Amino acid sequence: MTAKIRHFLDIDRFDTATLRGILDRSVALKAAHKAGAGERLLLGKSLAMIFEKPSTRTRVSFEVGMRHLGGDVVVLRPGEMQLGRGETIADTARVLSRYVDSIMLRTDSAARLEELVRWATVPVINGLTERSHPCQLMADIMTFEEHRGPIDGRVVAWCGDGNNVAASWVHAAVRFDFELRLACPEPLGPPLKLLRWAEEQGGRVSLTDDPAAALRGADCVVTDAWVSMNHDGDESRRNLLIPYRVDEAAMAHAKPNAVFLHCLPAHRGEEVTDGVIDGPQSLAWDEAENRLHAHKGILAWCFDV
Ligand code: CP
Ligand code: NVA
Repeated sequence: MTAKIRHFLDIDRFDTATLRGILDRSVALKAAHKAGAGERLLLGKSLAMIFEKPSTRTRVSFEVGMRHLGGDVVVLRPGEMQLGRGETIADTARVLSRYVDSIMLRTDSAARLEELVRWATVPVINGLTERSHPCQLMADIMTFEEHRGPIDGRVVAWCGDGNNVAASWVHAAVRFDFELRLACPEPLGPPLKLLRWAEEQGGRVSLTDDPAAALRGADCVVTDAWVSMNHDGDESRRNLLIPYRVDEAAMAHAKPNAVFLHCLPAHRGEEVTDGVIDGPQSLAWDEAENRLHAHKGILAWCFDV
């Protein structure tokens, strides 16, 4: 019997113990790297990364993380591949699986990711779809806990578009057992199916259109772009989201020692002000750095090393 392939696709697909294991490993790998004692756990292994959408953090942190672990990477854009001329995802998956030991995909289509998983014979990592961004959440939880201790029992307020990152926060709230209050304009809330899943799981996830109510007494305030990559060109969203901007007045509703997180890229003056993202409560830069360490933990899990 062949061992089950270790795909990293979404936080809701894991149990808490496995997620905790990945996080603990990420923390250990970070400490080892800082001490100059990193191990070449993935010597001789390779990762192909397909970017159907732009990326700075995901691309660089996976590439550098793989190299830290002694592995190699190939970065692919559909315009440079036969994928861009109509070769199927299924055929691409089968061919890449003969060359590399793992594949990461960033795409606007969760269905394409599923198709890749169906045909790949090596681990597949979700590098963001229109529905979720699980790698980001591993770094986000790691960052919160690094600064404020265990996240279980804490209150996280999401303020803005109920997008892919918000969906992964819902998954994380259930698996890591914290309260998540989503403040979103009514037309831009997360999918009802997702909220129902959280409820069925016994999660503490609520949705309001009142940002002040969501932020009141929160330990962590999170936001993201008003126009995600899968909504490029949809300017109508901006007007709906103006009341959800995280500025100093909004942060004042949260606990005085609340932290601010943003997956980046930030759109300064839209979803967040300079004063907040550059202010003393912001952990955005540690959060970006932790993508590197969290991805190393994810890779170590995928390769079972
Ligand atoms: N946060 C994030 O995924 O950033 P990139 O789009 O730059 O990869
Ligand atoms: N919600 C954003 C996240 C970018 C990392 C997007 O999908 O564009």
